[in-house]
Amino acid sequence: VNLKPYNTFGLPAVARRLVRIREELDVRRVVDHPELGRSPKFVLGGGSNLVLTRDVDAVVLKMEIPGLRLIEREDAWIIEAGAGVGWHEAVAWSIEQGIPGLENLALIPGTVGAAPVQNIGAYGIEMKDRLENVDVVDLTTGRRVTLPAEVCRFGYRDSVFKQTGYGGLAGKSVITTVRLRCPKPWQPQLGYLDIERKIAETGIVAPDARQVFDWICEIRRAKLPDPALIGNAGSFFKNPVVSAEQCRDIIARDPHIVHYPMPDGSFKLAAGWLIDACGWKGKSVGGAAVYERQALVLVNRGEARGAEVVTLARAIQESVYGRFGIRLEPEPVVV
Ligand code: EPU
Repeated sequence: VNLKPYNTFGLPAVARRLVRIREELDVRRVVDHPELGRSPKFVLGGGSNLVLTRDVDAVVLKMEIPGLRLIEREDAWIIEAGAGVGWHEAVAWSIEQGIPGLENLALIPGTVGAAPVQNIGAYGIEMKDRLENVDVVDLTTGRRVTLPAEVCRFGYRDSVFKQTGYGGLAGKSVITTVRLRCPKPWQPQLGYLDIERKIAETGIVAPDARQVFDWICEIRRAKLPDPALIGNAGSFFKNPVVSAEQCRDIIARDPHIVHYPMPDGSFKLAAGWLIDACGWKGKSVGGAAVYERQALVLVNRGEARGAEVVTLARAIQESVYGRFGIRLEPEPVVV
């Protein structure tokens, strides 16, 4: 199966075996299968956080479980979604139902099932702030368990589902259902520069969830490439976190560096700014290029190959390290 249409970067690769998972029982069927059951598995959602540099030998489980359901609780609304539902589709649906709480996470590519894996986040809200629990199916035993958010070991763009070390679930289980919690009463998150600008421009100081949703869509469309038109995997690197001391050193050399204080006293630096400062905007290696409007995003200018994306990423890492002494860590999964 050609994987090019199944990864938002539009990179060429082939999967020898691909199974469409349309219901939870399909996972069980793969596990019980005499041949597929014993092979390594690769879980594929929307393919929006993926850099394919070669063909995939593992059995690809393409997650297509549908379904959106609303459950009202006294303290919150619970949105139950199948892993194969598009993330943005789920957010838009919740807003249409009049349920506020997911609006800041509008227009993030990928599926609902992939969202907890890398703890997606934007404009002050992360998956971990909204996750009630997930159903996962063990890829060896076929057994289902419900995991509450507390055991998911969420970190910045990280979770137990991505971890391979002790207790990590990467490659061991697959998320089939996600339950999101939108607490009552709604508490809008408006403390982000791009949103504050929208408030100032429009004079709307008390926006409703629909308004925030529309603003987030506008903000993202203005600076992030639409994967349907230009292949990409969102931010290519994580924003690095440095100690207060390191941050002071860097500011001494570059007073304009964009940095945000973290609750534990460390500082998060804007990787996009670091890459931009090294002059990377618009540069390319073969078909892979640095997006002109957001240096943190690498794009496919046409016929890019995974190896070209990786070469470009390494060159960026080296130049940022050379100038700032900071190692950038890729965000997407590189296969
Ligand atoms: N900047 C530059 N030049 C650039 C890009 C950015 O100077 O080319 C500066 C901007 O001016 C801004 C700062 O860097 O002051 C931060 O940029 P931005 O607000 O675009 O956010 P980001 O830190 O680059 C993160 C997430 C995004 C998320 C936004 C909004 C990561 C790796 N990325 O980007 O998430 O949408 O904040 O919350 O944490 C993703 O993970 O794929 C993603 C898109």
